[in-house]
Amino acid sequence: MDSFECLACGPVDVRGSFSPFCPGCREPLFVSRPERSGRRAIRERAGSAIEKFLDFLPLSSFDPKLSLGEGDTPLLPLDRLGPKIGLSRAFAKNEAQNPTGSFKDRGTAVAVQKAVASGFKRIGTVSTGNMAASTAAYGARAGLETFVLLKEGTSAVALQASGIYGPHLITVDGDYGALFHKSLEVGGRLGISFMNSIDPFRMEGYKVTGYEIFLQLGRRAPRFILVPLSSGGHLLGLMRAFEDLEREGLIADFPTFVGVQALGCAPLVRAFEAGLPTYERLKEARTLAHAISNPAPPAGNTVLTMIRARAGRLVAVSDEEMLEAHQELAVNEGLCCQPESATTAAALKKLAGSGVIGPGDEAVIVLTGSGLKTPLASGPSPSRLHRMTLTDLDSQLFGLLRSKM
Ligand SMILES: Cc1ncc(COP(=O)(O)O)c(C=O)c1O
Ligand SMILES: [Zn+2]
Repeated sequence: MDSFECLACGPVDVRGSFSPFCPGCREPLFVSRPERSGRRAIRERAGSAIEKFLDFLPLSSFDPKLSLGEGDTPLLPLDRLGPKIGLSRAFAKNEAQNPTGSFKDRGTAVAVQKAVASGFKRIGTVSTGNMAASTAAYGARAGLETFVLLKEGTSAVALQASGIYGPHLITVDGDYGALFHKSLEVGGRLGISFMNSIDPFRMEGYKVTGYEIFLQLGRRAPRFILVPLSSGGHLLGLMRAFEDLEREGLIADFPTFVGVQALGCAPLVRAFEAGLPTYERLKEARTLAHAISNPAPPAGNTVLTMIRARAGRLVAVSDEEMLEAHQELAVNEGLCCQPESATTAAALKKLAGSGVIGPGDEAVIVLTGSGLKTPLASGPSPSRLHRMTLTDLDSQLFGLLRSKM
């Protein structure tokens, strides 16, 4: 049996049926850690990402039949972009290489392992994008009846991205924030395990990204980790991972986490800058960064608590800064991420420019999703189209060479 805890209230005896929230204070619940530390082993030679860190996860075993090969994504040095913004040790953790093109697969993978082990035949999620596709794909893989609840007015492309996996695809008219809570209530009644953005098992899956970064850097924590921030589930999962490593005595220094919101929808940055313990729900969001546009993040207050407790930061970047960084990652590094993921590169630039991140500081940006899935126009193309003829191709291509040999 898993036990759960709340940051404010401590261990929670009974998890409210199907709810990821603490019955006492309504903040998110986390899966409790084992009492004794120093005993969890990393199985570096295991075949899959989850199996490598099974000791750190609330899974007694791993069923490969439910997996789509999530995790084990590359940590790529930003050898061109880094120096251009004054950093010699900048890296990108490329989560676009997950099975459905986003970090969500890590959380879905663990939550589905758990749901199947607990006997569920139905799963579901409330999402407008990446989480919908991820849950639908893993549901199909596991042969589960899957319910994807989306906002009325969701684009045809987004509907297709999860619809291809054959879930019940349902658009719901009404307040999207309320739908998050309603889904949990209905799920409890109908036996549907809703694995929404801050589900405790989903957050457990996100921890694996943190452990991988630790291994990829040679069993060290980086100085900074930057992540785009919406519900807060991903950031909290990553922070829990480094707390686990700290508890096991595997790292000496805790990284500085930087959560990045879009300037047009930054309720947590506002509260952080104002020194407030809780955030105020925004009335409207104005940003192109739809995947991280969340006026009422369900884990928002816990993010504020954790970030402050660990001397982290919350910063906002404008849509223009995001789109510029999106293009810079592609042109300089060959990385076409989802524009929302590029908020991390924009924040990296900002913090390097203001001296918060020093020239030699090791900094990791997490590129949470693939740009191939969301072809958002990111301003004019960096390439000019040339028109040539077959007969003159040779001389015309020669004319284009950057150096004439
Ligand atoms: C590409 C991308 N990045 C970041 C996030 C934010 O993750 P979280 O809601 O866990 O804070 C999302 C959420 O949907 C996303 O789709
Ligand atoms: Zn509580």
